[in-house]
Amino acid sequence: RPRYTGLIERYRDRLPVNDDTRLISLGEGNTPLIKLSHIPKSLGKNIDIYVKFEGLNPTGSFKDRGMTMAVTKAVEEGSKAIICASTGNTSAAAAAYAARAGIAAFVLIPDGKIAQGKLAQAMMHGATVIQIKGNFDEGMQLVKEVAEHAPVTIVNSINPYRLQGQKTAAFEIVEELSCAPDYHALPVGNAGNISAHWMGYSEYYEDGIVATRPKMLGYQAAGSAPFMRGHMVDDPETVATAIRIGHPQSWDKAWKVKEESQGWFDECSDEEILAAQKLLAQQEGVFCEPASATSLAGVLRDIKSGKIPENSKVVCTLTGHGLKDPDIAIKQSTSPVVTVAATLDAVREAILNNMA
Ligand code: F0G
Repeated sequence: RPRYTGLIERYRDRLPVNDDTRLISLGEGNTPLIKLSHIPKSLGKNIDIYVKFEGLNPTGSFKDRGMTMAVTKAVEEGSKAIICASTGNTSAAAAAYAARAGIAAFVLIPDGKIAQGKLAQAMMHGATVIQIKGNFDEGMQLVKEVAEHAPVTIVNSINPYRLQGQKTAAFEIVEELSCAPDYHALPVGNAGNISAHWMGYSEYYEDGIVATRPKMLGYQAAGSAPFMRGHMVDDPETVATAIRIGHPQSWDKAWKVKEESQGWFDECSDEEILAAQKLLAQQEGVFCEPASATSLAGVLRDIKSGKIPENSKVVCTLTGHGLKDPDIAIKQSTSPVVTVAATLDAVREAILNNMA
C-alpha cells in the first residue's frame, strides 16, 4: 500500500492543485471514525453514533485540513507571510504549516481567552503572536483591514482554499461507511467547517458516489449562538473558547446548508458541553476539547427527544483534541488524585479504597 502523505495527495483530483504544485503537508487527514459503544447503549436506543476524531490531525484539530491547502496555495502564489485571527486552533495550524513552508506567520488572538495548548503551539512554531484586547470577531475585522495594507495572505476560512481542504473529511466518512450518514453534527463558530462538509457530501452526491446526503446539524454554545438568535452577537461568551464567536464569517453559506440538507441549528449550554466532553472521555476513551463536544451534546439531546429517530446513522465531528485545553479538563475532573506515602501498604490501600 502506498505511504499516506496527506489529504492533498490523496484527493488530488478533487482539489485545486496541479502536477508541479509544491505540497505543504504534515500528513493531515485520514482520521479515525470511531463507533461509540457505551453511550448509545446507555441511551437505550438502537442508533449508530460515530465520532470523527479530528483531534488526531498533526496539530490536533481539523484546521490542518484547510491549512495544508491554504498554505500550499499561498506558497504557490509567491506569498512570504500568512495571517489569521484565531480562537487558537487556526493559529496553531497556521504557525505549523508556515514553519513547514519556511514562511512567516502572524496570528491575532483574543487576550486571555485562548487555551494554553494552542498558545504553546503558536509560540513553539515561531509565529508572531499578537494578542489583542478584544475578541475573535474584532481580530477578524482587523485581519481583513490589515491585509489590504501589508503583504500577507489571510488563512482564515474566508480563504476559499481552506474549505476545499476541509471538505475531504466528508469524503473519508463516505468511504468508511460506504454511504453518507443520515445526520452529521458539528460545532459551529464561523460555520466554515459545516459548509465545507456539505460541499464534500454534495460533490460525491453530484458525481453519483453516494445516493443521499446527510441532514446537517449545527450546534452552537448558548452564549455564542448567533444562528439561534437570527442576528450577530456582540459579546459572545462560552467555556468552549474555540467557538466564542458572535459574527460568523460563513453566515449565508451556513443557512444554505441548513436549508438544502433539511437540517437544523441548536444551542447547548456550557454545562451540557462539559458533561458531553466528560462522558466521551470516561465512557468511550475519547478526549476532545470542550467546543468539539458540542456536537455530541446536541446529538444526545436530539436522540433522547426522538428528533433524531432510532435506526439512524449519526456522525459527530470532534474538531479538536482534549489536550488543547488542559486547564478546563483538570478543573472539571472528579477523578481522584490521591497522595500517599511511597510504600507498598499505602499504594495497596489507595487501590482497594478506590475500586469501583
Ligand atoms: N471546533 C473547534 C475546536 C474550533 O477550533 C473551531 C473554530 C470550531 C469548532 C468551529 O469551526 O468556525 O468552521 O464553524 N476555530 C477557529 C479558530 C475560529 O480560530 O481556531 P467553524
